Amino acid sequence: MYKSEQLAVSLKHLIETGTWKPHEKLPSLRQQVEISGFSLITVMNAYQELEAQGLIYSKEKLGYFIAENPIQAALAKKVILNEKIEINSLVFRYLKSIQSESTIPLGSAFPNSQLLYSPKLMQTLGLQAKHRISYEQMPSLPPGNYELRKLIAQRYCMQGIPTDPSDIVITSGGLDALNLSLKAMTQAGDYILLQETIFYGAWQAAENLGLKVITIPEHPEYGLDLEAFKKAVTTYPIKVCLLMLNSHNPIGFTVKEEIKFELAKLLHQHEIYLIEDDVYEELYFDQKKPLSMKYYDQKNLILHCSSFSKTLGAGFRVGWVYAGKFSEHIQHLQLMSTLSVNSFIQNALVDYLSHRHYEKHLKTLRKTLKRLKNLYYQYLLKELPDTCTIHYYPSGYFLWITLPEHIDSSLIYQHMLEQNVSIAPGALFYRTNKTPHHIRINCSFELNNDTQNALNQLIQYIKKL
Ligand SMILES: Cc1ncc(COP(=O)(O)O)c(C=O)c1O
Repeated sequence: MYKSEQLAVSLKHLIETGTWKPHEKLPSLRQQVEISGFSLITVMNAYQELEAQGLIYSKEKLGYFIAENPIQAALAKKVILNEKIEINSLVFRYLKSIQSESTIPLGSAFPNSQLLYSPKLMQTLGLQAKHRISYEQMPSLPPGNYELRKLIAQRYCMQGIPTDPSDIVITSGGLDALNLSLKAMTQAGDYILLQETIFYGAWQAAENLGLKVITIPEHPEYGLDLEAFKKAVTTYPIKVCLLMLNSHNPIGFTVKEEIKFELAKLLHQHEIYLIEDDVYEELYFDQKKPLSMKYYDQKNLILHCSSFSKTLGAGFRVGWVYAGKFSEHIQHLQLMSTLSVNSFIQNALVDYLSHRHYEKHLKTLRKTLKRLKNLYYQYLLKELPDTCTIHYYPSGYFLWITLPEHIDSSLIYQHMLEQNVSIAPGALFYRTNKTPHHIRINCSFELNNDTQNALNQLIQYIKKL
């Protein structure tokens, strides 16, 4: 943490605990230098940070004062209406630029394909391929293959979430599930709530559907900021929230069960729908699988979206949504767009899942990802300057790195591409006015000469900047 951040945190504590009253004058910059022992520039930065957070305000030539209602003012500042969303062209350019086979894909969202497409699954696909019946389309039309939906429903039931196959709609991957759900639940001009930092697909969907997006920041400790959430839902007529609570992409955190429980209470109280993006749900490293918000859903307000892309293969394009009462509407939308998901793959997945190969594969996958993520983390921790923060969480395969605020991660992305290495720059995930100073690294590739060289080039460039 920077010195100015340290100072801002301790001053914030004094404000929040009421030591300073509204409109009381803060010590002048010079007095604060004497009190704290920090330099003038550090004190100035800390005061500016508190002003940006809405806790204090400044009057020309008079100094800084405590805001009228600092806690509420700070909360209001956290809840942002994102006026115009224009991310599609950036994502398009990014996805095009990382497609080259010669690029080391540290910026990719896909897990290393060597870890997916398990041999048993390939065998199943081979056997299925020989039977004409596997290609029959009728049984795979929306809502999708019944047996596959039954197997998915059983997995929910195993987690204590009563589920019927008719609740499930099979989709063309998780992205399709998110887009269909959002489309079924909103109209252009509706307000939706997103996390400030979130998978770019959520931003794209909002842009495509002409939605007004309110964002709340991540809570540094809990992942989800419930106070900011409350403020957002009491300030704006939010219809739907689209959130990631397990193995968040790009940051990586998993929200604690107590917070999920509180969140569900708020959703119920305000009758707000939630689309939960949970495509990394199986990639946890601890003993117990984190629960989906569906577990806490008493009023059928939650649509849960997931897929096999991060565990079996992104190329299959098979996902699903626990759509409940929205099932029919979503099927209508499918019949007007993608029609059905590939019947052959759906049949192969039925065979594979019903023989319990999936559980074994997941165990191995989790173990490998845990090992690789640790290796990358240790390496970067050792080599990156300590002005960078590496966010490590025990799940998934991403490391999220906070760089010093002046470093524009888009520059790093451009520079690394010229070296045939991709990284995912912060601008893909958030829309703040600040310089995007984060990067996301995919750690699912073995740390061999190529990947280590790629990391070294990245580290050198960051040091240079
Ligand atoms: C958070 C998140 N949601 C959804 C998706 C889309 O998943 P799928 O590949 O199954 O469409 C991705 C893919 O990267 C993702 O990271």
